[in-house]
Amino acid sequence: MNVSVFGAGYVGLVTGVVLAELGHQVTLIEPVKEKLQVINNGRSPIFEAGLEALLQRVMDQGRLHAKATAERDLADADIIFIAVGTPPLPDGEADLRYVRQAALSIGGGMTGKKRQVIVNKATVPIGSANLVEVWIQDGFRDLHGRVPPTEWYAVASNPEFLREGTAIYDTLYPDRIVLGADEAWAIDRLKELYAPIIQQSFAPPFKDEEVPLVTGVPVDVTDRISSEMIKYAANAFLAMKISFANEMANISERVGANVVDVMHGIGLDRRIGAKFLNAGVGWGGSCFGKDLSALTLTAQEYGYHPRLLQATMAVNRDQRLLVVKKLQEELKPVKGRRVAVWGIAFKPGTDDLRDAPAISVIEELLRLGVRVTAYDPIAMDNLQRERPDLEIQYANSAEEALIDADALILITEWDSFREIPLETIAARLSRGIVIDGRNLWDPNEADRVGINYRSIGR
Ligand SMILES: NC(=O)c1ccc[n+]([C@@H]2O[C@H](COP(=O)([O-])OP(=O)(O)OC[C@H]3O[C@@H](n4cnc5c(N)ncnc54)[C@H](O)[C@@H]3O)[C@@H](O)[C@H]2O)c1
Repeated sequence: MNVSVFGAGYVGLVTGVVLAELGHQVTLIEPVKEKLQVINNGRSPIFEAGLEALLQRVMDQGRLHAKATAERDLADADIIFIAVGTPPLPDGEADLRYVRQAALSIGGGMTGKKRQVIVNKATVPIGSANLVEVWIQDGFRDLHGRVPPTEWYAVASNPEFLREGTAIYDTLYPDRIVLGADEAWAIDRLKELYAPIIQQSFAPPFKDEEVPLVTGVPVDVTDRISSEMIKYAANAFLAMKISFANEMANISERVGANVVDVMHGIGLDRRIGAKFLNAGVGWGGSCFGKDLSALTLTAQEYGYHPRLLQATMAVNRDQRLLVVKKLQEELKPVKGRRVAVWGIAFKPGTDDLRDAPAISVIEELLRLGVRVTAYDPIAMDNLQRERPDLEIQYANSAEEALIDADALILITEWDSFREIPLETIAARLSRGIVIDGRNLWDPNEADRVGINYRSIGR
Protein backbone atom coordinates (compact mmCIF):
# COMPACT_ATOMS: atom_id res chain seq x y z
CA MET A 1 0.00 0.00 0.00
CA ASN A 2 1.03 3.62 -0.37
CA VAL A 3 1.30 5.24 3.02
CA SER A 4 2.03 8.86 3.94
CA VAL A 5 3.04 9.77 7.48
CA PHE A 6 2.88 13.34 8.80
CA GLY A 7 5.61 13.83 11.41
CA ALA A 8 8.95 12.00 11.57
CA GLY A 9 9.32 12.03 15.36
CA TYR A 10 9.49 9.10 17.76
CA VAL A 11 6.14 7.75 16.57
CA GLY A 12 6.02 8.79 12.91
CA LEU A 13 9.55 7.76 12.03
CA VAL A 14 9.30 4.37 13.73
CA THR A 15 5.85 3.72 12.20
CA GLY A 16 7.04 4.74 8.74
CA VAL A 17 10.22 2.68 8.88
CA VAL A 18 8.44 -0.44 10.18
CA LEU A 19 5.64 -0.18 7.59
CA ALA A 20 8.29 0.16 4.86
CA GLU A 21 10.10 -2.87 6.27
CA LEU A 22 6.81 -4.78 6.01
CA GLY A 23 6.70 -3.99 2.28
CA HIS A 24 4.64 -0.82 2.07
CA GLN A 25 5.68 2.27 0.12
CA VAL A 26 6.07 5.06 2.66
CA THR A 27 6.44 8.84 2.37
CA LEU A 28 7.36 10.71 5.53
CA ILE A 29 6.38 14.36 5.68
CA GLU A 30 8.54 16.36 8.08
CA PRO A 31 8.76 20.16 8.00
CA VAL A 32 11.84 20.54 10.22
CA LYS A 33 14.68 20.94 7.72
CA GLU A 34 17.47 19.65 9.97
CA LYS A 35 15.54 16.48 10.80
CA LEU A 36 14.69 15.90 7.15
CA GLN A 37 18.31 16.31 6.13
CA VAL A 38 19.49 13.83 8.76
CA ILE A 39 16.89 11.27 7.64
CA ASN A 40 17.74 11.74 3.97
CA ASN A 41 21.38 11.05 4.86
CA GLY A 42 20.26 7.69 6.20
CA ARG A 43 20.66 8.73 9.83
CA SER A 44 18.12 8.68 12.62
CA PRO A 45 17.47 12.05 14.26
CA ILE A 46 16.53 10.26 17.49
CA PHE A 47 18.27 7.60 19.55
CA GLU A 48 16.22 4.44 19.28
CA ALA A 49 17.70 0.92 19.22
CA GLY A 50 17.82 -0.59 15.73
CA LEU A 51 16.10 2.35 14.06
CA GLU A 52 19.00 3.69 12.03
CA ALA A 53 19.89 0.29 10.54
CA LEU A 54 16.30 -0.33 9.51
CA LEU A 55 15.94 3.21 8.15
CA GLN A 56 18.99 2.75 5.95
CA ARG A 57 17.73 -0.59 4.69
CA VAL A 58 14.27 0.63 3.66
CA MET A 59 15.73 3.77 2.07
CA ASP A 60 18.26 1.72 0.09
CA GLN A 61 15.41 -0.48 -1.08
CA GLY A 62 13.49 2.62 -2.20
CA ARG A 63 10.54 1.93 0.08
CA LEU A 64 10.82 5.03 2.23
CA HIS A 65 11.17 8.67 1.21
CA ALA A 66 11.17 11.74 3.41
CA LYS A 67 10.00 15.15 2.19
CA ALA A 68 9.12 18.58 3.56
CA THR A 69 5.76 18.65 1.79
CA ALA A 70 4.04 15.91 -0.11
CA GLU A 71 1.02 17.24 -1.94
CA ARG A 72 1.65 15.08 -5.02
CA ASP A 73 2.30 11.89 -3.04
CA LEU A 74 -0.81 12.48 -0.93
CA ALA A 75 -3.13 11.85 -3.88
CA ASP A 76 -1.63 8.36 -4.28
CA ALA A 77 -1.80 7.45 -0.60
CA ASP A 78 -4.16 4.67 0.48
CA ILE A 79 -3.58 5.59 4.11
CA ILE A 80 -2.38 8.86 5.62
CA PHE A 81 -1.14 8.89 9.21
CA ILE A 82 -1.10 11.96 11.40
CA ALA A 83 1.78 11.37 13.83
CA VAL A 84 2.69 14.96 14.69
CA GLY A 85 3.33 16.17 18.22
CA THR A 86 0.48 17.21 20.54
CA PRO A 87 2.51 18.96 23.28
CA PRO A 88 0.83 20.45 26.35
CA LEU A 89 -0.14 24.13 26.42
CA PRO A 90 0.57 26.00 29.69
CA ASP A 91 -2.90 25.10 31.04
CA GLY A 92 -2.34 21.39 30.30
CA GLU A 93 -4.56 21.29 27.23
CA ALA A 94 -3.12 19.45 24.19
CA ASP A 95 -1.85 21.81 21.51
CA LEU A 96 -3.55 20.68 18.30
CA ARG A 97 -1.96 23.22 15.99
CA TYR A 98 0.27 20.64 14.26
CA VAL A 99 -2.62 18.23 13.85
CA ARG A 100 -4.61 21.07 12.29
CA GLN A 101 -1.76 21.96 9.91
CA ALA A 102 -1.47 18.34 8.83
CA ALA A 103 -5.23 17.94 8.36
CA LEU A 104 -5.42 21.16 6.32
CA SER A 105 -2.63 19.87 4.04
CA ILE A 106 -4.40 16.53 3.68
CA GLY A 107 -7.60 18.33 2.65
CA GLY A 108 -5.61 20.52 0.28
CA GLY A 109 -4.03 17.48 -1.37
CA MET A 110 -7.22 15.47 -1.72
CA THR A 111 -8.16 14.64 -5.31
CA GLY A 112 -10.56 11.72 -5.03
CA LYS A 113 -8.20 9.65 -7.19
CA LYS A 114 -8.21 7.09 -4.39
CA ARG A 115 -10.50 6.50 -1.44
CA GLN A 116 -8.33 7.37 1.56
CA VAL A 117 -8.18 6.58 5.25
CA ILE A 118 -6.78 9.40 7.35
CA VAL A 119 -5.54 7.99 10.62
CA ASN A 120 -4.95 9.87 13.84
CA LYS A 121 -1.97 8.16 15.44
CA ALA A 122 -1.10 11.15 17.60
CA THR A 123 -2.66 11.19 21.05
CA VAL A 124 -5.48 13.70 20.75
CA PRO A 125 -8.22 14.86 23.10
CA ILE A 126 -11.47 12.97 22.92
CA GLY A 127 -13.45 14.11 19.90
CA SER A 128 -10.44 15.28 17.89
CA ALA A 129 -11.25 12.93 15.00
CA ASN A 130 -14.27 15.18 14.40
CA LEU A 131 -11.97 18.21 14.33
CA VAL A 132 -9.62 16.47 11.90
CA GLU A 133 -12.56 15.83 9.62
CA VAL A 134 -13.57 19.49 9.76
CA TRP A 135 -9.99 20.66 9.10
CA ILE A 136 -9.67 18.30 6.13
CA GLN A 137 -12.87 19.82 4.76
CA ASP A 138 -11.47 23.33 5.39
CA GLY A 139 -8.26 22.48 3.52
CA PHE A 140 -10.23 21.21 0.55
CA ARG A 141 -12.71 24.10 0.65
CA ASP A 142 -9.91 26.68 0.55
CA LEU A 143 -8.93 25.35 -2.87
CA HIS A 144 -12.20 24.15 -4.32
CA GLY A 145 -14.88 26.22 -2.60
CA ARG A 146 -16.80 23.14 -1.39
CA VAL A 147 -16.25 20.21 0.96
CA PRO A 148 -14.88 16.93 -0.45
CA PRO A 149 -17.46 14.16 -1.06
CA THR A 150 -17.74 12.00 2.07
CA GLU A 151 -17.19 8.80 0.07
CA TRP A 152 -13.65 9.96 -0.79
CA TYR A 153 -12.27 9.47 2.69
CA ALA A 154 -12.74 8.25 6.24
CA VAL A 155 -11.08 9.50 9.43
CA ALA A 156 -9.97 6.76 11.80
CA SER A 157 -8.27 6.61 15.18
CA ASN A 158 -5.36 4.22 15.69
CA PRO A 159 -3.61 5.18 18.93
CA GLU A 160 0.04 4.33 19.40
CA PHE A 161 1.31 2.36 22.40
CA LEU A 162 5.03 2.04 21.60
CA ARG A 163 7.57 2.71 24.33
CA GLU A 164 10.64 4.78 23.56
CA GLY A 165 13.71 2.57 23.85
CA THR A 166 11.87 -0.49 22.51
CA ALA A 167 9.84 1.26 19.83
CA ILE A 168 10.58 -1.06 16.90
CA TYR A 169 9.99 -4.16 18.97
CA ASP A 170 6.72 -2.74 20.30
CA THR A 171 5.55 -1.86 16.79
CA LEU A 172 6.27 -5.35 15.46
CA TYR A 173 5.00 -7.24 18.51
CA PRO A 174 2.26 -5.09 20.04
CA ASP A 175 -0.10 -6.40 22.72
CA ARG A 176 -2.99 -5.18 20.56
CA ILE A 177 -3.87 -2.90 17.69
CA VAL A 178 -6.74 -0.52 18.44
CA LEU A 179 -8.77 0.71 15.47
CA GLY A 180 -11.61 3.19 15.78
CA ALA A 181 -13.71 4.16 12.75
CA ASP A 182 -17.32 4.41 11.70
CA GLU A 183 -16.74 2.98 8.20
CA ALA A 184 -16.18 -0.79 7.81
CA TRP A 185 -14.08 -0.26 4.68
CA ALA A 186 -11.64 1.91 6.64
CA ILE A 187 -11.23 -0.79 9.31
CA ASP A 188 -10.69 -3.41 6.59
CA ARG A 189 -8.01 -1.29 4.96
CA LEU A 190 -6.17 -0.80 8.23
CA LYS A 191 -6.36 -4.52 8.95
CA GLU A 192 -4.83 -5.14 5.52
CA LEU A 193 -2.04 -2.65 6.25
CA TYR A 194 -1.23 -4.33 9.54
CA ALA A 195 -1.83 -7.91 8.29
CA PRO A 196 1.84 -8.96 8.61
CA ILE A 197 1.83 -7.79 12.23
CA ILE A 198 -1.64 -9.13 13.05
CA GLN A 199 -0.72 -12.53 11.64
CA GLN A 200 2.94 -12.27 12.74
CA SER A 201 3.89 -13.42 9.26
CA PHE A 202 6.85 -11.07 8.63
CA ALA A 203 10.50 -12.10 8.72
CA PRO A 204 12.09 -10.64 11.89
CA PRO A 205 14.21 -7.69 10.72
CA PHE A 206 17.23 -8.39 12.91
CA LYS A 207 19.09 -11.69 12.85
CA ASP A 208 19.94 -11.95 16.52
CA GLU A 209 16.65 -10.46 17.66
CA GLU A 210 14.76 -12.05 20.50
CA VAL A 211 11.37 -12.92 19.02
CA PRO A 212 8.50 -13.27 21.47
CA LEU A 213 6.18 -16.26 21.27
CA VAL A 214 3.35 -14.30 19.67
CA THR A 215 1.23 -16.15 17.14
CA GLY A 216 -1.16 -13.34 16.39
CA VAL A 217 -1.96 -9.84 17.59
CA PRO A 218 -5.51 -9.02 18.72
CA VAL A 219 -7.24 -6.23 16.86
CA ASP A 220 -9.59 -4.20 19.00
CA VAL A 221 -12.18 -2.54 16.76
CA THR A 222 -14.32 0.21 18.21
CA ASP A 223 -15.74 3.63 17.44
CA ARG A 224 -13.46 6.66 17.13
CA ILE A 225 -14.30 8.23 20.47
CA SER A 226 -13.73 5.03 22.42
CA SER A 227 -10.47 4.50 20.55
CA GLU A 228 -9.25 7.98 21.52
CA MET A 229 -10.35 7.30 25.09
CA ILE A 230 -8.51 3.94 25.18
CA LYS A 231 -5.18 5.71 24.70
CA TYR A 232 -5.79 8.15 27.54
CA ALA A 233 -7.19 5.47 29.83
CA ALA A 234 -4.18 3.21 29.17
CA ASN A 235 -1.67 5.94 30.00
CA ALA A 236 -3.65 7.07 33.04
CA PHE A 237 -3.73 3.51 34.36
CA LEU A 238 -0.01 2.92 33.81
CA ALA A 239 0.91 6.21 35.49
CA MET A 240 -1.46 5.37 38.34
CA LYS A 241 0.28 1.99 38.83
CA ILE A 242 3.63 3.72 39.26
CA SER A 243 2.20 6.39 41.55
CA PHE A 244 0.57 3.59 43.55
CA ALA A 245 3.92 1.80 43.89
CA ASN A 246 5.45 5.07 45.07
CA GLU A 247 2.71 5.65 47.62
CA MET A 248 3.27 2.11 48.91
CA ALA A 249 7.03 2.85 49.01
CA ASN A 250 6.45 5.88 51.20
CA ILE A 251 4.27 3.90 53.59
CA SER A 252 6.70 0.94 53.50
CA GLU A 253 9.55 3.22 54.55
CA ARG A 254 7.61 4.42 57.53
CA VAL A 255 6.60 0.99 58.77
CA GLY A 256 9.86 -0.79 57.97
CA ALA A 257 8.70 -2.85 54.97
CA ASN A 258 10.64 -3.33 51.75
CA VAL A 259 8.61 -1.99 48.81
CA VAL A 260 10.44 -4.16 46.29
CA ASP A 261 9.27 -7.27 48.15
CA VAL A 262 5.81 -5.77 48.63
CA MET A 263 5.38 -5.04 44.90
CA HIS A 264 6.76 -8.46 44.01
CA GLY A 265 4.24 -9.99 46.36
CA ILE A 266 1.28 -8.15 44.88
CA GLY A 267 2.51 -8.47 41.29
CA LEU A 268 2.26 -12.26 41.49
CA ASP A 269 -1.50 -11.79 41.61
CA ARG A 270 -2.55 -12.00 37.95
CA ARG A 271 -5.32 -9.49 38.55
CA ILE A 272 -2.61 -6.96 39.39
CA GLY A 273 0.33 -8.01 37.19
CA ALA A 274 4.02 -7.46 37.91
CA LYS A 275 4.79 -4.64 35.49
CA PHE A 276 4.87 -0.91 36.20
CA LEU A 277 5.17 -1.41 39.93
CA ASN A 278 8.70 -0.08 40.39
CA ALA A 279 8.97 2.54 43.09
CA GLY A 280 11.45 5.33 42.36
CA VAL A 281 11.64 8.97 41.35
CA GLY A 282 8.37 8.59 39.48
CA TRP A 283 7.25 8.69 35.90
CA GLY A 284 8.11 11.24 33.23
CA GLY A 285 8.43 11.41 29.48
CA SER A 286 6.49 13.06 26.73
CA CYS A 287 3.21 11.24 27.31
CA PHE A 288 2.06 10.49 30.85
CA GLY A 289 2.05 14.03 32.24
CA LYS A 290 0.57 15.63 29.15
CA ASP A 291 -2.03 12.92 28.65
CA LEU A 292 -3.17 12.95 32.28
CA SER A 293 -3.49 16.74 32.17
CA ALA A 294 -5.45 16.61 28.92
CA LEU A 295 -7.79 13.90 30.23
CA THR A 296 -8.29 15.84 33.46
CA LEU A 297 -9.26 18.94 31.49
CA THR A 298 -11.63 16.95 29.29
CA ALA A 299 -13.29 15.44 32.36
CA GLN A 300 -13.66 18.89 33.90
CA GLU A 301 -15.11 20.31 30.68
CA TYR A 302 -17.88 17.76 31.09
CA GLY A 303 -18.43 18.54 34.76
CA TYR A 304 -16.54 15.59 36.27
CA HIS A 305 -13.89 15.90 38.97
CA PRO A 306 -11.28 13.18 38.22
CA ARG A 307 -9.84 12.55 41.70
CA LEU A 308 -7.73 9.51 40.80
CA LEU A 309 -6.05 11.31 37.89
CA GLN A 310 -5.24 14.30 40.06
CA ALA A 311 -3.88 12.13 42.88
CA THR A 312 -1.75 10.22 40.37
CA MET A 313 -0.14 13.48 39.26
CA ALA A 314 0.22 14.88 42.79
CA VAL A 315 1.97 11.75 44.10
CA ASN A 316 4.35 11.92 41.14
CA ARG A 317 5.17 15.60 41.67
CA ASP A 318 6.19 14.97 45.28
CA GLN A 319 8.01 11.75 44.46
CA ARG A 320 10.41 13.48 42.08
CA LEU A 321 11.88 15.62 44.80
CA LEU A 322 12.06 12.88 47.42
CA VAL A 323 15.67 12.13 46.41
CA VAL A 324 16.58 15.74 47.17
CA LYS A 325 14.91 15.51 50.61
CA LYS A 326 16.87 12.33 51.31
CA LEU A 327 20.06 14.08 50.24
CA GLN A 328 19.30 16.96 52.61
CA GLU A 329 18.87 14.47 55.44
CA GLU A 330 22.32 12.98 54.79
CA LEU A 331 24.30 16.04 53.72
CA LYS A 332 23.75 19.08 55.90
CA PRO A 333 23.87 21.74 54.66
CA VAL A 334 23.71 20.92 50.95
CA LYS A 335 24.65 24.46 49.91
CA GLY A 336 27.97 24.58 48.11
CA ARG A 337 28.36 20.78 48.00
CA ARG A 338 29.00 18.94 44.76
CA VAL A 339 26.57 16.20 43.76
CA ALA A 340 26.88 13.81 40.84
CA VAL A 341 23.66 13.03 38.97
CA TRP A 342 23.63 9.82 36.95
CA GLY A 343 21.02 9.64 34.21
CA ILE A 344 19.17 12.52 32.58
CA ALA A 345 16.94 10.87 29.95
CA PHE A 346 13.43 10.22 31.25
CA LYS A 347 14.19 6.52 31.05
CA PRO A 348 16.98 4.26 29.81
CA GLY A 349 17.25 3.57 26.08
CA THR A 350 16.19 7.01 24.88
CA ASP A 351 17.60 10.51 24.45
CA ASP A 352 14.19 12.04 25.16
CA LEU A 353 14.18 14.70 27.90
CA ARG A 354 10.55 15.70 27.77
CA ASP A 355 9.26 15.95 31.36
CA ALA A 356 12.34 14.05 32.57
CA PRO A 357 12.43 13.71 36.40
CA ALA A 358 16.19 14.42 36.29
CA ILE A 359 15.51 17.97 35.14
CA SER A 360 13.17 18.62 38.10
CA VAL A 361 15.81 17.19 40.44
CA ILE A 362 18.65 19.24 38.92
CA GLU A 363 16.56 22.43 39.06
CA GLU A 364 15.81 21.80 42.74
CA LEU A 365 19.47 21.05 43.54
CA LEU A 366 20.55 24.28 41.84
CA ARG A 367 17.86 26.20 43.71
CA LEU A 368 19.33 24.87 46.95
CA GLY A 369 22.82 26.01 45.99
CA VAL A 370 24.19 22.56 45.15
CA ARG A 371 26.87 22.25 42.47
CA VAL A 372 25.89 19.54 40.01
CA THR A 373 27.95 17.30 37.76
CA ALA A 374 25.71 15.31 35.43
CA TYR A 375 26.34 12.29 33.28
CA ASP A 376 24.10 10.41 30.85
CA PRO A 377 25.38 8.02 28.17
CA ILE A 378 23.07 9.46 25.47
CA ALA A 379 21.07 12.50 26.52
CA MET A 380 23.73 15.06 27.55
CA ASP A 381 23.92 16.83 24.19
CA ASN A 382 20.16 17.26 24.21
CA LEU A 383 20.22 18.76 27.72
CA GLN A 384 23.02 21.15 26.79
CA ARG A 385 21.08 22.25 23.72
CA GLU A 386 17.62 22.40 25.29
CA ARG A 387 18.56 23.83 28.69
CA PRO A 388 21.63 26.05 28.32
CA ASP A 389 20.33 27.97 31.36
CA LEU A 390 21.16 25.09 33.73
CA GLU A 391 24.50 25.93 35.31
CA ILE A 392 25.89 22.45 35.72
CA GLN A 393 28.99 20.55 34.71
CA TYR A 394 28.92 17.63 32.34
CA ALA A 395 31.22 14.63 32.83
CA ASN A 396 32.66 12.42 30.11
CA SER A 397 31.89 9.26 32.01
CA ALA A 398 29.87 8.09 34.99
CA GLU A 399 33.08 7.64 37.00
CA GLU A 400 34.33 11.10 36.08
CA ALA A 401 31.10 12.61 37.44
CA LEU A 402 32.05 11.28 40.88
CA ILE A 403 35.32 13.21 41.06
CA ASP A 404 35.15 15.75 43.91
CA ALA A 405 31.48 14.87 44.51
CA ASP A 406 30.14 14.49 48.03
CA ALA A 407 27.18 12.43 46.94
CA LEU A 408 25.66 10.59 44.00
CA ILE A 409 21.99 10.69 43.01
CA LEU A 410 20.92 8.02 40.54
CA ILE A 411 17.93 9.06 38.45
CA THR A 412 17.93 6.96 35.24
CA GLU A 413 18.87 3.31 35.55
CA TRP A 414 21.02 2.83 32.44
CA ASP A 415 22.48 -0.70 32.24
CA SER A 416 26.01 0.71 32.04
CA PHE A 417 25.64 2.07 35.60
CA ARG A 418 25.09 -1.47 36.92
CA GLU A 419 28.51 -2.46 35.60
CA ILE A 420 30.37 0.03 37.79
CA PRO A 421 31.44 -1.71 41.02
CA LEU A 422 30.03 -0.19 44.18
CA GLU A 423 33.60 -0.17 45.52
CA THR A 424 34.55 2.32 42.79
CA ILE A 425 31.64 4.54 43.71
CA ALA A 426 32.51 4.35 47.41
CA ALA A 427 36.15 5.16 46.76
CA ARG A 428 35.45 8.21 44.59
CA LEU A 429 32.76 9.96 46.61
CA SER A 430 34.24 12.17 49.28
CA ARG A 431 31.38 11.51 51.72
CA GLY A 432 30.19 8.20 50.29
CA ILE A 433 26.53 9.21 50.10
CA VAL A 434 24.42 7.48 47.44
CA ILE A 435 20.75 8.32 46.90
CA ASP A 436 19.43 5.60 44.65
CA GLY A 437 16.29 6.87 42.93
CA ARG A 438 15.64 3.57 41.13
CA ASN A 439 16.46 0.93 43.71
CA LEU A 440 19.28 -0.22 41.44
CA TRP A 441 21.66 -1.50 44.11
CA ASP A 442 21.44 -4.00 46.92
CA PRO A 443 21.37 -2.09 50.25
CA ASN A 444 23.45 -4.82 51.96
CA GLU A 445 26.13 -4.59 49.27
CA ALA A 446 26.18 -0.81 49.59
CA ASP A 447 26.51 -1.16 53.34
CA ARG A 448 29.32 -3.70 52.96
CA VAL A 449 31.46 -1.29 50.91
CA GLY A 450 30.81 1.54 53.36
CA ILE A 451 28.36 3.60 51.34
CA ASN A 452 25.86 5.75 53.19
CA TYR A 453 23.00 4.44 51.08
CA ARG A 454 19.38 5.59 50.73
CA SER A 455 16.88 4.20 48.27
CA ILE A 456 13.12 4.35 47.79
CA GLY A 457 10.77 2.43 50.05
CA ARG A 458 13.37 0.07 51.53
N1 LIG B 1 6.84 9.35 22.02
C1 LIG B 1 6.11 8.33 22.45
O1 LIG B 1 6.60 7.44 23.15
C2 LIG B 1 4.65 8.23 22.09
C3 LIG B 1 3.98 7.02 22.31
C4 LIG B 1 2.63 6.94 21.98
C5 LIG B 1 1.98 8.05 21.46
N2 LIG B 1 2.66 9.21 21.28
C6 LIG B 1 1.94 10.34 20.69
O2 LIG B 1 2.30 10.45 19.32
C7 LIG B 1 2.35 11.83 18.93
C8 LIG B 1 3.72 12.15 18.38
O3 LIG B 1 4.65 12.00 19.42
P1 LIG B 1 6.23 12.00 19.14
O4 LIG B 1 6.86 11.61 20.42
O5 LIG B 1 6.51 11.22 17.91
O6 LIG B 1 6.45 13.55 18.85
P2 LIG B 1 7.74 14.23 18.20
O7 LIG B 1 7.73 15.62 18.67
O8 LIG B 1 8.93 13.38 18.40
O9 LIG B 1 7.43 14.20 16.64
C9 LIG B 1 6.47 14.98 16.02
C10 LIG B 1 6.99 15.38 14.66
O10 LIG B 1 5.96 16.00 13.91
C11 LIG B 1 6.56 17.03 13.14
N3 LIG B 1 5.51 17.96 12.67
C12 LIG B 1 5.00 19.04 13.27
N4 LIG B 1 4.08 19.63 12.48
C13 LIG B 1 4.01 18.90 11.36
C14 LIG B 1 3.22 19.01 10.18
N5 LIG B 1 2.35 19.98 10.00
N6 LIG B 1 3.41 18.09 9.22
C15 LIG B 1 4.31 17.09 9.38
N7 LIG B 1 5.06 16.95 10.49
C16 LIG B 1 4.91 17.85 11.46
C17 LIG B 1 7.56 17.64 14.09
O11 LIG B 1 8.52 18.42 13.41
C18 LIG B 1 8.14 16.40 14.73
O12 LIG B 1 9.25 15.89 14.02
C19 LIG B 1 1.97 12.62 20.17
O13 LIG B 1 0.59 12.88 20.14
C20 LIG B 1 2.29 11.67 21.31
O14 LIG B 1 1.50 11.91 22.44
C21 LIG B 1 3.99 9.31 21.56
